[in-house]
Amino acid sequence: MTPEKLMDLAVEAMGHSYSPYSGYQVGAALLCVDGTVYQGCNVENASYSPTICAERTAIFKAIYDGKREFTAIAVCGGKGGEITGQFPPCGVCRQVMAEFCKPDFQIHLHKNGGGIETFTLSQLLPQSFCL
Ligand code: THU
Repeated sequence: MTPEKLMDLAVEAMGHSYSPYSGYQVGAALLCVDGTVYQGCNVENASYSPTICAERTAIFKAIYDGKREFTAIAVCGGKGGEITGQFPPCGVCRQVMAEFCKPDFQIHLHKNGGGIETFTLSQLLPQSFCL
């Protein structure tokens, strides 16, 4: 699975977003070591704090299905479904990734102006808290 194909699946997932409050549609596609892919979208709430990000939707779907090892995630988003720049994972999602993913887990983001920029989890969450 190439980063580009994984990003295509993240773009598709954006279309499933429930985001009437912010208007930001976010999509994620999580690649498991066995090659399966889980897509996720953000799901907002009138009370705001119950909102879940696209990345965690994808990760929790996979965990429910018994998956525990992950290779990469592609993330994209934008207001009204239009991708205008990078949509890096929030701190909560980075912490959830740290629970299940190794430091070299790949995070693919839409680059400003097109293309994909890839980071490792350890780059985006150095000195992470794990037990
Ligand atoms: N959001 C995500 O889906 N992923 C992130 O990592 C950052 C934020 C969503 C949450 C909310 O629905 C919208 O983007 C605006 O914050």
